[in-house]
Amino acid sequence: MRAANTYMSFLLCPPNYYNIEYEINPWMDKSRGAIASLARQQWDALYRLLTQTLGITVHLLDPIAGQPDLVFTANAGLVFQNQFFMSRFRHAVRQGETVYYEKWFREHHFQIVFPPDAFYFEGEGDALWVGNNLFLGCGIRTDHKAAVWLEEALHHPVYPLELVDPHFYHLDTCFCSLDSERVLYYPNAFSAASQRTIQTLIPHAIAIEEADALQFGANAIVIGNQIVMNTDGTSTAGETSAARCVSLTKTLNQEGFVVHSLDFSEFIKSGGSAKCLILKIEG
Ligand code: ARG
Repeated sequence: MRAANTYMSFLLCPPNYYNIEYEINPWMDKSRGAIASLARQQWDALYRLLTQTLGITVHLLDPIAGQPDLVFTANAGLVFQNQFFMSRFRHAVRQGETVYYEKWFREHHFQIVFPPDAFYFEGEGDALWVGNNLFLGCGIRTDHKAAVWLEEALHHPVYPLELVDPHFYHLDTCFCSLDSERVLYYPNAFSAASQRTIQTLIPHAIAIEEADALQFGANAIVIGNQIVMNTDGTSTAGETSAARCVSLTKTLNQEGFVVHSLDFSEFIKSGGSAKCLILKIEG
């Protein structure tokens, strides 16, 4: 297992222009906008935890007016060594983000690889490594064809997993790689065949409960044995609510993980939590 102090760097984008301006997944409701000051507080808490407590190097992408979902850098693409596999967003409202991601990666000397025109691919939001195998969430945002493209380019096995519930529209909303042998997954988000793929290929696939899945328990950031998750319910819209992902936290503690508790209520209004807000650059 990766040690907590291994060098790791992430790309994040501050939430200056973040809000709910369109509806492209069942969580988004334009009449339930994000509270800007609270979103800022929650994002700052994540930034502080990553940089000050967990020793992560954080690179920042400049926020851009009119691109409210640019905060979800997990969807920029997939980084593999010095290559950046760009996303092609399914929804037109997010396609304008691409030029900003491309610019950042060019300036940082990555080789940019574009997906062929024939399909959509939404980056690390749908592409997660478990050891040397890449699992690809397909059917809602990313197309199955992206699996063949990535397998040929990466020279690693790529396993498409069929997503069937629109609430869990990206793989990182229902599947989380803990290390090369263990994952968290929410079974009902996957077709029966894909549930079998997960159970067959991954030695220890831990099924999470619906209540924890709906609180974005699988959308966690894993750094060695440290996990950042939406577990703190204290500052939701200024009100106090119950702690979240209680049963999942217990399971993770038994598995030897330390869970860092943050509140992502304002980002969940857009269908994203901890993991969606970061893109792995190194580590
Ligand atoms: N509102 C964004 C969308 O629907 C949220 C993206 C969340 N990102 C993720 N990796 N799950 O595209």
